[in-house]
Amino acid sequence: MTAVGIDAVEIWTGNLKLDLPGTFAPEKGEDPEKYTKGLGLNASSFPDSYEDIVTMAANAAYRLMDRKGLEPDDIGRIDVATESAFDNSKPVSTYVAGCLEQVFEGDFHHANKGERKFACIAGTQSLDDAYNWIKAGRNRGRGALVIATDTALYARGDAGEATQGAGAVAMYIDEEPNLVELSADQGYGSADETDFLKPNQQFPSVDGKRSVQVYLARMREALEDYESVAGAVHPDDFAYAPFHTPFPGMVRRAALLAYRHVIRNTSIEDDLAADIGRQPRPEGFDSDEAYRDALRDYMDSLKETDQYREWYAETIEPTLSISREVGNWYTGSVHLARASTLKEALESGKEMAGSRLLVGSYGSGAQAEIHAETVRDSWAEEIEALNVDEQLEERYDMSWEDYEEIHDAHNHEMDVDVEEFTTPEQEFVFDGWGRMGERKYRFVE
Ligand code: CAA
Repeated sequence: MTAVGIDAVEIWTGNLKLDLPGTFAPEKGEDPEKYTKGLGLNASSFPDSYEDIVTMAANAAYRLMDRKGLEPDDIGRIDVATESAFDNSKPVSTYVAGCLEQVFEGDFHHANKGERKFACIAGTQSLDDAYNWIKAGRNRGRGALVIATDTALYARGDAGEATQGAGAVAMYIDEEPNLVELSADQGYGSADETDFLKPNQQFPSVDGKRSVQVYLARMREALEDYESVAGAVHPDDFAYAPFHTPFPGMVRRAALLAYRHVIRNTSIEDDLAADIGRQPRPEGFDSDEAYRDALRDYMDSLKETDQYREWYAETIEPTLSISREVGNWYTGSVHLARASTLKEALESGKEMAGSRLLVGSYGSGAQAEIHAETVRDSWAEEIEALNVDEQLEERYDMSWEDYEEIHDAHNHEMDVDVEEFTTPEQEFVFDGWGRMGERKYRFVE
């Protein structure tokens, strides 16, 4: 059967950087370690004054098409996933196509374009749409361009301000892909939740503490649903587990729960029993409260075991390296985690062809999805081509005053003009407003 999956990926970070322990924490009167150790973040990426979700998406797509030698005729779909859209009718993908048509010969008039919305999980849903379109044989030999792009900004003073970020991930989905093959098996955990929403407003209303609990509950449901179709997951089955990463501390919490779940009734649980006992089971307790207390004690002990620490260091830690430097990219976050994983594998000389990834996506509101991916033979060439380290290095490091200015400049309610901090080069930039209030873009050589 023909393999379908991600052939290539490209990343575009916002051109500005906010140093969280160095600039943000002192201004907030907080211990820098809340950011570096608690949330697990060193910095956030921000868009410069000439950047937005369209420029970042088009720049990631341009890099991808240019590097892969793709032409508009090779692309039968352009799907953009975002939760930062500025138009309730015209999709971002049309703007992106317009940008790309400025620099490539030909056009995208015969490509199906759309925009996907379900908080941060929409990027993965767009991958699914592309996969299903190809598997259904409706692609006429063409591939799909899937782009996840967001400016994840919170109101100033909101607790979420610490987890902001901005960037885009572009992926080319095709038959016999170079990077990873997607599995047909999927698990879902989905419920009507009110943890994070933007009812016609730019900055989200968030119940932060609740959102963390909802993430964990829906992920657990998705894992159980995945196991119901793919069989029980064992820690040795997957080389890495890239998950949606609003901040690395969130994944650290999810990982401990997931590990407890997947070692239950395995020889790992048996081996650990001498030191920390067996996992509490509800039938062994008179009350729910007693069971929960016992579970908490077990988790506290599990977290300190060598087995767990080694598994975490090998399977989870490498998925977080880019996220630590850029913050939350919403729809792009899990796709950054995959890129981070494979980049770390390449840099540590690990041979990944044939290895499997357990990928966990999440969107507030809320839905989690879990599927497996198998790494393909040419994965290393694709990952070697990324220039994410250079991009991160070249970001302009904002002072607190710069940050306040740029936050205001991107606030739709404010009319603030800010000089750009960086000089665009070989990239699309925002170029003012058109006659119907549409945004205009141009490519800067
Ligand atoms: N040294 C070490 N660690 C420290 C510390 C210090 N000096 N000070 C605090 N910490 C730790 C805390 O113990 C805590 O860790 P644990 O949760 O493991 O205990 C961590 O740092 C964060 O501290 P707080 O909980 O006090 O932080 P906060 O009240 O400022 O809020 C937040 C954190 C709720 C995540 C907030 O940033 C927020 O609302 N973020 C936006 C919502 C979000 O990202 N939710 C995630 C799930 S929803 C989702 O995934 C969708 C999405 O993308 C938005």
